[in-house]
Amino acid sequence: MARYEINGGKSLQGTVTVSGAKNAAVAILPAVLLVSGKCHIENVPNISDVHILLDILREMGAEISLEGSSVTVDCSHVRSSRPDANLVRKMRASYYLMGALLGRCGKAHVALPGGCNFASRPIDQHIKGFIALGADVDESDDYVALEPGENGLQGGRVSLDVVSVGATVNIMLAATLLPGQTVIENAAKEPHIVDLANFLNTMGARISGAGTDTVKIRGVKELHGGSYAIIPDQIEAGTYMAAVAAAGGNVLVQNVIPKHMECITSKLQEMGAKVTNYDDAIRIQRAGKLRCTTVKTRPYPGFPTDMQAQICVCMSLASGVSRLTESVYETRFFGYCTELQSMGADILITGKTAIVTGREKLTGAVVSAHDLRAGAALVIAGLAAEGTTIVENTHFIERGYESIVEKLSALGADIRRIE
Ligand code: UD1
Repeated sequence: MARYEINGGKSLQGTVTVSGAKNAAVAILPAVLLVSGKCHIENVPNISDVHILLDILREMGAEISLEGSSVTVDCSHVRSSRPDANLVRKMRASYYLMGALLGRCGKAHVALPGGCNFASRPIDQHIKGFIALGADVDESDDYVALEPGENGLQGGRVSLDVVSVGATVNIMLAATLLPGQTVIENAAKEPHIVDLANFLNTMGARISGAGTDTVKIRGVKELHGGSYAIIPDQIEAGTYMAAVAAAGGNVLVQNVIPKHMECITSKLQEMGAKVTNYDDAIRIQRAGKLRCTTVKTRPYPGFPTDMQAQICVCMSLASGVSRLTESVYETRFFGYCTELQSMGADILITGKTAIVTGREKLTGAVVSAHDLRAGAALVIAGLAAEGTTIVENTHFIERGYESIVEKLSALGADIRRIE
């Protein structure tokens, strides 16, 4: 297994280009199953989660050609509603195949997903949505099977009990080709929800309200092929911004949508970083000491839980005592706090809140990534620390960060991947 060796203490300088959004790509690729005809998708991130999804689609009979960050997918010959269970178990977002196959075939048999297990990740809201659309659901310990119920599949009204990105996406996928209107209340508003709606609408769907609490889907008979470019990755951009805040330096982060970054930007500014927004880029500079702050993670437009670990590293190096409260995935701290403590961080976890007392420095250590964002945080800690850090289990990081070693090296970091 690969690991990264990082000799820390070098500030970051230069320009980094953010890739397409992972969480949009893993929703849009299954959505192609709903399309009759070829889809040409650009700005697809070159990450292992995308490759697993492409393998799943290919194994089901899709014709796929990949050139750089562009993918052309034609699902005309897909007949199966039962994707390969071993591939499905390799990633979390493979559960979008449930909604996409229900929409395409009127039925689906999909293994329960694997992926980053930083918390218990129930799918009861996805199931509630499928039932509201008329599906019969057979749920076992290892799979979910969906069939039309006695009144058949049709649009319906779903009010989510918790704001769930996954359930919102899955219901949108399942409802796009169904007769009638579907309304999702208390829907997630993340940029990738809007991106999925924009993709589907470009192909002929009639979805309105994406990005608000209420998403309406008026079913259409067919989607046609076309071209679409995925939005830049909010969390990848935020990770590079946090890396500059922690390690110091002056970096232009390009291919970003500054509006998506507002919550992250304002916290890093509060902590003492200088941030300048351009049309599709952000410059971040940090020279002096960081200051402590208070962060509470929330669904978009709040501070993303997927940036919790990275901001925690910044807090570990700030003057004063910061408070970091997790309100989406309560057990998320356990994926990385022990590792950061072994590098000298002072973190006390009480329930949903981590009290982080900033230290003068972190010190290099051998640490292990337990999930994607935890791994990214350990890389940031390694960049900012004195001495050498070895980050193990980097396959987690490579699920969601394209060429992270190359991108950081280009910014002057001393980091290398060791097989
Ligand atoms: C998505 C993101 C993930 C991010 C998370 C929160 C993708 C592929 N992944 O994950 O990176 O960390 O949003 O922003 O986009 N919940 C239920 N029942 C459900 C579904 C969710 O109780 O059926 C709860 C979860 O336990 C969690 C909260 O709702 O507490 C939000 O989860 P959700 O938004 O669904 O996260 P994911 O879609 O899995």
